[in-house]
Amino acid sequence: MSALFEPLQLGAIQLPNRIVMAPLTRARAGMEATPNELMAAYYAQRAGAGLIISEATGITREGLGWPDAPGLWSEYQVEGWQCVTDAVRAHGGRIVAQLWHMGRLVHPSVSCLQPVSSSATTAPDFAHTYMGKKPYVQARAASRDEIRRIVADYAIAARNAITAGFDGVQVHGANGYLVDQFLRDGANLRTDEYGGSIENRLRFMTEVLEAVGGAIGMDRVGIRFSPNIYVQGVEDSNPVALFAAAATRLEELKVPWIELREPRQPTSAGAIPTEPVSPAMRSRYSGKIVINSDFDWNSALERIEAGHADAVSIGRLFIANPDLVRRIALGAPLNDGDSSTYYSGGAAGYLDYPALDEAQAA
Ligand SMILES: Cc1cc2nc3c(=O)[nH]c(=O)nc-3n(C[C@H](O)[C@H](O)[C@H](O)COP(=O)(O)O)c2cc1C
Repeated sequence: MSALFEPLQLGAIQLPNRIVMAPLTRARAGMEATPNELMAAYYAQRAGAGLIISEATGITREGLGWPDAPGLWSEYQVEGWQCVTDAVRAHGGRIVAQLWHMGRLVHPSVSCLQPVSSSATTAPDFAHTYMGKKPYVQARAASRDEIRRIVADYAIAARNAITAGFDGVQVHGANGYLVDQFLRDGANLRTDEYGGSIENRLRFMTEVLEAVGGAIGMDRVGIRFSPNIYVQGVEDSNPVALFAAAATRLEELKVPWIELREPRQPTSAGAIPTEPVSPAMRSRYSGKIVINSDFDWNSALERIEAGHADAVSIGRLFIANPDLVRRIALGAPLNDGDSSTYYSGGAAGYLDYPALDEAQAA
C-alpha cells in the first residue's frame, strides 16, 4: 500500500496521502443552500483523506438546482463554509470546493429562472426538485454577454471559497453540467466561437479556468471531467480527440491537477463507457491525475504503480467509512453504505457511520 501513502503535491496543496475523497452531493444544506454544523461534523469525520473535494457547490442560484445542496454566492454561505473548513483543518485535513453550474439541469421550480446552457436543448429524464421529480425544461442558449457574466460568477465563487477557508477549488467539468454542456458536441450545438470545432468548444472551460486562476492563483485550481461516459444526456462523438485537446490546454494554462471519473466495466455510472481517455491525456499533461470510479485500494494501487495516475478519489466508500484511510492502512473491514440516505437530509446515514474503534467496541 506504500504508494498510496506517499505525499503528493497538487499545486499549492500538499497531500499527506493519495486517497482523495471524491465530491459527493449529500443535500444537507437546506433551502438557503447554506452549510451548517451538521456538514462541518461530516467533513471533519473524513479529514483523514489526503484531500477532500467538497460536494458540488452552486456558484449562483441560477446554477444550482439540486434541492438542499450548498452554494457559495452569499455572505451567509461563506460563513457556513468557514465553519466546515475550520472543522476540517482542526482535524488535520485539507478541502477544496467543487464549483458547480448545472446549466440545463437546473429546474425552474428550484431557481425561479429558465435554465441556461450552451444551446437551447432539454436534458432527458427528470430533475430532482422540492416538489418531487419533474421533467427538465428547455434551456436557453447563453448569449455572449451571459457567458461573460457566468465566467465572472465562477471567479467570484472561487474568491468566496478562499475567503471561506478552502485550500482551493475544483471546477466541475464532469457529469453533464454546464462546462460539460459546452465541451461535448452532443449538447453544444452552437455555431459561434463557443461551438463547432474542438478549439471552440474548449473556449468556455478555458475562460472559466483563466478567470478562476486569475482570482485565486492557478496553483489552487483543479478540474474534474467524466470523459468516457454518457451522462445526463451529454456525450461526445470523439471523446479521445476532445479530452486530449483539453489536456493540452490544461498544460498550457498550468492547471496543476485533473480528476477523471473514468469508470471501467462493470460501471456504477449507469451509462455506456467508451474507451478510456486517460492514456491520451496523460501523454499530453504533466500535472497530476486523480483517477476515480469503482476503485478499491488494490485496483487504485495498480493504476498508480503503473504510472497511469498519481492518486485515486473514492466516493461511496467514504460515505460509509469516515476513517477510510485508516482502515486501508490497517487492512480493516469496511462498513456497508446505505444509498437510501444519500440525499435524505438529517444526521441519519450521514454522521452515524462508525469509525473503526467504535465499530470494534460495538
Ligand atoms: C451520493 C453521491 C453523490 C455524488 N455527488 C457528486 C458531486 O457532487 N459531484 C461530482 O462530481 N460527482 C458526484 N458523485 C460522483 C462521485 O464523485 C464518484 O464519481 C462516484 O461515486 C464513483 O466513485 P466511487 O466508485 O468511488 O463511488 C456522486 C456520487 C454519489 C454516489
